Amino acid sequence: DWNAGNVVAEQVEKIRAQVGDARVICGLSGGVDSSVAAALVQKAVGSQLTCVFVDHGLLRSGEAEQVEKDFVAATGVQLKVVDARERFLRALAGHTDPETKRKIIGREFIRVFEDAAREVIDDAGHSDASAHPVKFLVQGTLYPDVVESGGGEGAANIKSHHNVGGLPDDLQFELVEPLRTLFKDEVRAVGLELGVPEGIVWRQPFPGPGLGIRIIGEVTAERLDILRAADVIAREELTRAGLDRDIWQCPVVLLADVRSVGVQGDGRTYGHPVVLRPVSSEDAMTADWTRLPYDVLAVISTRITNEVPEVNRVVLDVTSKPPGTIEWE
Ligand code: XMP
Repeated sequence: DWNAGNVVAEQVEKIRAQVGDARVICGLSGGVDSSVAAALVQKAVGSQLTCVFVDHGLLRSGEAEQVEKDFVAATGVQLKVVDARERFLRALAGHTDPETKRKIIGREFIRVFEDAAREVIDDAGHSDASAHPVKFLVQGTLYPDVVESGGGEGAANIKSHHNVGGLPDDLQFELVEPLRTLFKDEVRAVGLELGVPEGIVWRQPFPGPGLGIRIIGEVTAERLDILRAADVIAREELTRAGLDRDIWQCPVVLLADVRSVGVQGDGRTYGHPVVLRPVSSEDAMTADWTRLPYDVLAVISTRITNEVPEVNRVVLDVTSKPPGTIEWE
């Protein structure tokens, strides 16, 4: 019988055996997967772990601050925050192909972790790059990530999840992936077992590549600002309507290369559409589009078109998975 307590005990033992007395870093995104992975590793090897939060500029409004505050307060883990916004934007400039964007983001994550690893301070308080190099990188990879990146038996590569198919070939770290056989609901159970706060355990999924794969077209700073403004409105209204636990997640997607004609006040507009993609799911392997109440959709649409000047049209994605995936890229 599956039991969260057994999974914790087993994984703690496995992590100790793999890591020994080496130092470990963990890429923390604030989401449930990386938070639970970090909590497991902390339970296993304690202060050998440093968490690294990469602000890649593809985050939603308020996200960086929230992670710094909530996760550290809850776990007391050592956290290093890296501002890598310019670096990611530079690397993504000019790229529009979804797999290329995913691979660039995966590669840049690793490069940032490598730089961060060199700066990790050891317990004695001196920079330990030569004395105790960081040998291991913890990732919150789940079973569905492995399958959909083509890692499962007989599986096709649907998209390269940033922490699986997006890894560079010359990776300097050995990976520690204690959630690799688990589904999301199991990860949540393990998180609760470990005492990870409910606010983190029940957070809706948000992909590692962030808003970078929700801008259809090239990722630019200006487009990120537009999408962030639309996204925060959708999230506010869904929360206000009490729907957070009813939906799995609701990506907001900017069709940055599409424009349509509109009218506002006395004037013609020629703006971009955003897509609302509310989905219901058990494990993200399959999903159905969520039948959100019309009045909630109406408020979201009105607010986005009023408050985000570059957006003049809000459309609803009514495709299940399959045939659509949850994210558009
Ligand atoms: P798709 O779009 O494949 O998404 O139906 C399934 C679930 O995975 C999330 N997702 C990702 N999560 N790194 C992640 O950590 C990724 O590269 C990635 N791509 C998709 C997506 O938000 C959904 O919950």
